[in-house]
Amino acid sequence: MEANPPKRKETRKSLRIKVISMGNAEVGKSCIIKRYCEKRFVPKYLATIGIDYGVTKVQVRDREIKVNIFDMAGHPFFYEVRNEFYKDTQGVILVYDVGQKESFDALDAWLAEMKQELGPHGNMENIVFVVCANKIDCTKHRSVDESEGRLWAESRGFLYFETSAQTGEGINEMFQTFYSAIIDLCDNGGKRPPSSVGVSFTKEQADAIRRIRNSKDSWDMLGVKPGATRDEVNKAYRKLAVLLHPDKCVAPGSEDAFKAVVNARTALLKNIK
Ligand code: GTP
Ligand code: MG
Repeated sequence: MEANPPKRKETRKSLRIKVISMGNAEVGKSCIIKRYCEKRFVPKYLATIGIDYGVTKVQVRDREIKVNIFDMAGHPFFYEVRNEFYKDTQGVILVYDVGQKESFDALDAWLAEMKQELGPHGNMENIVFVVCANKIDCTKHRSVDESEGRLWAESRGFLYFETSAQTGEGINEMFQTFYSAIIDLCDNGGKRPPSSVGVSFTKEQADAIRRIRNSKDSWDMLGVKPGATRDEVNKAYRKLAVLLHPDKCVAPGSEDAFKAVVNARTALLKNIK
């Protein structure tokens, strides 16, 4: 018997994970995956028919992971094909096109579809979601700005990245952070680690920013009725200013919302006797 058997090199179990892509047709899901796996971009649109499946090995931190990627077709026509692929997923790449507001507005419906398919026992809490605001190279047509997308993602505890499959911007960083978060999830027994769940702003702050962004005039922005008194305007202003003051609020878009509220108050007070 050997007195000193050679120490076995410590190898950590290699991981096998399943990720899926979700989002409207033509937002760039397949191109994002292709850019990362094959380092190339295809300008011609080739719609995914049902599902595209691929396996890839990636090195993240000191770990090798085997990734099963299910790239879904975004077209509603393929609902029947993709609905059975939602289960046993550790990570979701949720994509919208920054030049196409409908694709951003559709993100909630994508989450709802997944939730419905997972059924009452499915748990969306323990899945890593990354939101890709894609096609940022098309700066002329941008209709969803960064703070709006980031607010949507971060208020749900999702990761957020600005990407371009065409130039490659943000793609590697997005995948590395995404896989890294999935490893943390697996190491934590399949549950999202507590550190990654914390959202650093409140729902009230996120809702106020969204409401201000969508308001139609200064009255609406302050949440007062047209014809309100100076006191009412000042009271509404103070409440929002405390909620959104840049020193206190780190929610994406809070600075712009705060400025908009200051301007709305000034404009209204000018015309109130
Ligand atoms: P479905 O498979 O139908 O769900 O679409 P998809 O989301 O997979 O879209 P796909 O990746 O096929 O890309 C759609 C079109 O957008 C193609 O013509 C791509 O070349 C183009 N595209 C994708 N990503 C980008 C990008 O970052 N910038 C620009 N300019 N075009 C992009
Ligand atoms: Mg596709």
